Amino acid sequence: MMTIGDFKKKKDAGDKITMMTCYDYTSAAILNKTSADCLLVGDSLAMTMHGFRDTLSATIEMMAMHTAAVSRGAKDKFIVGDLPFLSYRSSLTENVAAVRALMQAGAHSVKLEGASGNAEFISHLVQSGVPVMGHLGLTPQFINQLGGYKVQGKTDDSAQRILEEALLLEKAGCFSLVLECVPATVAEKITKKLNIPTIGIGAGAETDGQVLVFQDLLGLNTDFRPKFVKQFLNGAELFTQAIDSYAQEVKAGTFPAPKHCFHSTAIVKSIKTKEASNS
Ligand code: KIV
Repeated sequence: MMTIGDFKKKKDAGDKITMMTCYDYTSAAILNKTSADCLLVGDSLAMTMHGFRDTLSATIEMMAMHTAAVSRGAKDKFIVGDLPFLSYRSSLTENVAAVRALMQAGAHSVKLEGASGNAEFISHLVQSGVPVMGHLGLTPQFINQLGGYKVQGKTDDSAQRILEEALLLEKAGCFSLVLECVPATVAEKITKKLNIPTIGIGAGAETDGQVLVFQDLLGLNTDFRPKFVKQFLNGAELFTQAIDSYAQEVKAGTFPAPKHCFHSTAIVKSIKTKEASNS
């Protein structure tokens, strides 16, 4: 299993980090047998698993429940638990309770979005034994402030601001940083400036690693396909074909076949109904 120290080792060795989101036990058990380095129980589960239109509806209870399921399925993977909207912007006591919920559910680290106003809490967590992953660029929890899912850092000023925030997160003690939807040149610059690894999504090929959403990678999400997603499987089509075959076989009476049935020599006697015994 990848451990916290391996993130930096991989950056230094030029060995790319592969992360995937994962939200449930069955997928986690499959991912556990793959070469993906680490799993993110992302708050994107509000959309992919619960059908909400953004990530703001994710709660700490949802995140802890999904983290526990992933942890039961992926015993050999480093797991990052995402802190949901506002769960780390309250009192220290409440913020720590949110982190405790994810760590006790089986996460090995937590991720949070943004830099401004988070540095002190990140240091507190790191000093308390909790590894923290940062997240900059397009931070979906700020959707209402960003005015949509737009590429960030396209101007000199905004690119400079993301770099400064990245340095702030590194200084606060983050062990790695997700860069979402920033121009490849900006992500490359930030990656070179930082000692900690960057993990990109829609941030080009020069980051220290990549992360993709499970449903996007496997082509299970038919609603929307962002430019940065590569579908490695046409999952929705394969699922549809398999389920249609099942429905057709049931209707045709070819499923279940004898090999799917339990057999015995027991004889079922006819049961006397009240009407039969009265006649
Ligand atoms: O919640 C999530 O899935 C994420 C990734 C897109 C990085 O934060």
